[in-house]
Amino acid sequence: MSKYIPVCEPTLLGNELKYVTDAVQTGWISSAGKYVREFEERFADYCGCKYGVAVCNGTVALHLALVAAGIGEGDEVIIPDFTMIATAFAVCYTGAKPVFVDADPETWNIDISKIEEKITSKTKAIIPVHLFGLMCDMDAVTDIARKHGLLVIEDAAEAHGAEYKGHRSGSVSNLAAFSFFANKNITTGEGGMVVTNDENIYNRLRYYKNVCFPLDGPRNYLHENIGYNYRMSNLVAAVGLAQVEKADEYKKMHRHNNKLYRKYLKDVSGIIFQLIPDGYLSVSWMNAILVDASKYGHTKDELCAYLKENNVDTRQLFVGMHRQPSLKKYGCDCSGEYIVTDKLTAQGLYLPSASCLNESDIYGICKLIKAFQQ
Ligand SMILES: Cc1ncc(COP(=O)(O)O)c(C=O)c1O
Repeated sequence: MSKYIPVCEPTLLGNELKYVTDAVQTGWISSAGKYVREFEERFADYCGCKYGVAVCNGTVALHLALVAAGIGEGDEVIIPDFTMIATAFAVCYTGAKPVFVDADPETWNIDISKIEEKITSKTKAIIPVHLFGLMCDMDAVTDIARKHGLLVIEDAAEAHGAEYKGHRSGSVSNLAAFSFFANKNITTGEGGMVVTNDENIYNRLRYYKNVCFPLDGPRNYLHENIGYNYRMSNLVAAVGLAQVEKADEYKKMHRHNNKLYRKYLKDVSGIIFQLIPDGYLSVSWMNAILVDASKYGHTKDELCAYLKENNVDTRQLFVGMHRQPSLKKYGCDCSGEYIVTDKLTAQGLYLPSASCLNESDIYGICKLIKAFQQ
């Protein structure tokens, strides 16, 4: 490619500068200020939820969600083995233990058929992670949760505006955590939010997020519980509000780009995409592919190196939780086989995925992938 194409970059085409300038000019730069509230309301509404609580990143959004849900020491929480490390770390912060379930071979999300065998008397919650913008089968997750009296907390960090049977991510569980990191479809640079329809959980989220200052009554600086400072600043929320205003546009761009990749690579043997089953609307946060070397003729690492020589940036996919030294040290059960996760790690990579890519960029990348095979 004649120009360098990064694996991702933010798209900031709306009112970001206007709102940030307003926050600076009016002096409202901390977590007090109208943009935090407006961003919370607009984003919660976008998800089809009543309440949103903005925080400083997606990792603490998950932690705060777990705290508000009452998860703590002695508890177990089921998570997918194939996920970003933050899903597991957030559980560890509470003192609870993450318990891993292998990935589904086609959707790459948690393998629902393997959840029940991991449930014990200590299990309190399931965290389905909507990977790369594709929601999990939430009816099946909810059925299992109901049967065993468990909470469901969506890790929707990668799935803003994704849909499952007409329901938006964030709205099909007790509560859900989002990330607004710079590479996400809606971004604030660093940022996160927890959304819920439950007023009681909403109040707990607000309480623990702000060092357990009482929600009502005078500020007497007596704190009944150990809380956190997870507040988002008004400056950051100003960017967030501008992003939500454009959310549907960005979603359209991501989905369009994913369709182009699938179209231009459909005849390349050994290149495999995540299955998007009927009834699911993926927001295609990242264009992840697997490279089956026996059919493609080169490994994923060889393809990445070739693309790099040609100015195209890529990234490898996650390494499974069962392989994480940190989680082993923490005391997680890392024994057993996670065949699908290991395959995804061995064969998977992200192709450039910024929403602002154009068709000729994608066509050029796909041409390189084809040329390398021949
Ligand atoms: C699935 C998942 N969960 C949680 C997070 C954590 O979000 P953050 O990076 O904003 O802390 C990420 C971030 O990439 C993620 O992909």
